[in-house]
Amino acid sequence: MAELLGDLISPISGGRVPRHVAIIMDGNGRWATQRGLPRVAGHRAGTENIRRVIERFADHGVQYLTLYAFSTENWSRPQREVRALIRLLRYFLRRELDNLHRNNIRLQMLGHIETLPEWLQRQVGDAILLTRENSRMALNICFSYGGRDDVVLAVRRLLAEGVAADDVTEEALAARLLTAGMPDPDLLIRTAGEQRISNFLLWQSAYAELYFTDAFWPDFGREDIDMALAEYGRRKRKFGGLLPEDIEALRGR
Ligand code: FPP
Repeated sequence: MAELLGDLISPISGGRVPRHVAIIMDGNGRWATQRGLPRVAGHRAGTENIRRVIERFADHGVQYLTLYAFSTENWSRPQREVRALIRLLRYFLRRELDNLHRNNIRLQMLGHIETLPEWLQRQVGDAILLTRENSRMALNICFSYGGRDDVVLAVRRLLAEGVAADDVTEEALAARLLTAGMPDPDLLIRTAGEQRISNFLLWQSAYAELYFTDAFWPDFGREDIDMALAEYGRRKRKFGGLLPEDIEALRGR
């Protein structure tokens, strides 16, 4: 069954692991407030946590890790916080790029990169270019990303290419999303207790297993990851159909 779904076996736990994990990194603000710190300190701690998380998922054999760092709606936050998040993207790239490259991880950015300052666009472009041949895992950072926006842009591309109405299929649309060529997320994790999708990978998550944890993002560590993967391994994925064992049981009736 694992093979059928495209799952892999984890080198660490020996269990089934998702090919693609997507994460809504929530709770930085509350993490900071609980400590009497400014919200930005929470985002800083959250950025530090990304390194640990990448390593753990890569060790498990996950092939695609997609992180929601900044949504199209996050622009409405106070300017100070927006600026801090943009600076943290620069900090993350400066600090982690060598490490990602050494670890054979390919960096990709999904979202409106053109809204970033030009110096940062260049830095992002260089990072993507440097790591583009890396094959161990793809790390997608979603920045100025919105799920609805992703679908709207894909539709615009179809129209711009003059694709006929009858040729507008699910495959044709998926091929024009920012995730074109990637498998859909198998597991979607949200930290910090909220149980919402918040405009993240709306099309792509149609059959993702959802996993919610109370841990704030800066605290989301190895054990939380292992628990999420263990839970994923217990889920029965049917994609609207039936499992082979269910079909077998029906035959016996
Ligand atoms: C949600 O927490 C988190 C965000 C809006 C930003 C997530 C960003 C990071 C983890 C750091 C930036 C990373 C990169 C690569 C630039 P929240 O602020 O909504 O928390 P709250 O719900 O507790 O207030």
